[in-house]
This record gives sequence, structure tokens and C-alpha cells, in this order.
Amino acid sequence: MPKFFALIPAAGSGSRIGEDLPKQYLHLAGKPMIHHAIGTLCSDGRIAHVIVVLSPDDSHWSQHDWSEFSSKLILLNCGGATRAESVLNGLSALETSIAIADDDWVMVHDAARPCLTSVQLEKLLDELTNDEIGGLLAIPVADTLKRSNTNQRATTTEPREGLWQAQTPQMFRYRLLTNALSSADGINVTDDASAIEALGLHPKLVLSDSNNFKVTYPQDLALAELILQKRKIP
Ligand code: C5P
Repeated sequence: MPKFFALIPAAGSGSRIGEDLPKQYLHLAGKPMIHHAIGTLCSDGRIAHVIVVLSPDDSHWSQHDWSEFSSKLILLNCGGATRAESVLNGLSALETSIAIADDDWVMVHDAARPCLTSVQLEKLLDELTNDEIGGLLAIPVADTLKRSNTNQRATTTEPREGLWQAQTPQMFRYRLLTNALSSADGINVTDDASAIEALGLHPKLVLSDSNNFKVTYPQDLALAELILQKRKIP
């Protein structure tokens, strides 16, 4: 039976949020942001290990206590210059550090999506375990989409039919994902699914909800805090 692994690329600086501390360590609901995603992934009984890929010069991880996750957590200090590079470096390092098979599943999840729920995670696992390609959590685009000119003036309205916003986790077989990211050099790969699409394959879109958003701008922190605090109330 194929095993399930989760991999969190956490080697970014998160410059758009405008803080000195890398985004994944900003405090949310009393914990560093990345703690929330690690907690959700580690608590899923099907996931064998959760791999965190840090920047080689990360000086923040060791300032926190991660011992509650010690049975599942694997730490790698091999992050790269882009998200895709961090994921690929992590996948390559796994080949020598743990027994991972070509057809084992890897779920890649952004450290900056702290509001992922166990229900969303289970849905992804249930819908993709028997899928030939794999897929990702996503939501249909709800807003009207405008294309702008260089003066920030709307020139056209883009049809939104068939458009989805990609989220994470994104779940693919170990060898397929490694090969896809290795051969995606030069393509603008901002998520794992785009590397799979570049091979001509069609990842499945698993319906999620907007709470699993990526914390990117300063105002996103307050919303994430609110969602996480509300979940703490029984
Ligand atoms: O910057 P952005 O929010 O798009 O990053 C998405 C995820 O990719 C984050 O978890 C971030 O830490 C990670 N990342 C990385 N290595 C990079 C850039 C981003 O692991 N060089």
C-alpha cells in the first residue's frame, strides 16, 4: 500500500507582508504560523511523516518547541531560491533519508496556509487516493475578473467560467512530482500542479473553501487570527 507524506516548504521570507520575521514564524493564535499547519497534518492518522523544508540559514526554528510533533516531524535545511526549488530539494533529500517509494503520495502544503482543517485534508485524501494523477484543493473564482493596462485601468472583463483558485495541499505521487519539478526548469511554476500540467496531465480540483487562504498581506493576519481563535472556542 502506498504511504502518505506531507511536505511543507518553509524557506520563503514572505516579503509582501512587510515584517522582519519570516512570515511562517509570525505569531497567530499564540503560536508561530507554521505550527498550525504542522498540527493539522501531524494529527491525520494516514500521514506517516511531515517534512519541513527550511532555508539553510534559518535561525528561527530552533527558538520554538516542536516536541509534541517529534514522532512524525522530519526537518530538512535545504530550501532554495523559489518555492519550486525548495519542494524539489526536499523531495530529492528524502530519497536518501527515509524509505520513500515511487508511488507513495506527497502532499505539499504552504506554511502560510494556517487555517487548513482536518475535514479539508480528509476530503483531499479520500478523493485522490485512487486517482491516477493526483490533485489539489481549490475554489471556483467568485469575483468578476478585470484585465488592466499599465495605468491600472480596466480594459476587459475576463470570463470566470471554469476558473479556479489553487490552494494547498497539492497531492501527487513521489516520482511523478519529482520528475515534473525537475523538468519544469524555465516554466513559471508557482505551485506543484503547474509542473504536472506542463507534462500534459490534468490534476483533479477538489472543492475547498475560502478559509484555507494564503496569508500574504498584512491584513490577512487579522483574518487568520480570527478564524483560528474561533476554532479554539468549544
Ligand atoms: O511566498 P509565498 O507565500 O508564495 O510562499 C508559499 C510557500 O512557499 C511558503 O510556505 C514559503 O515559505 C515557501 N517558499 C519556500 N522557498 C522559497 C519561497 C517560498 O519554501 N524560496
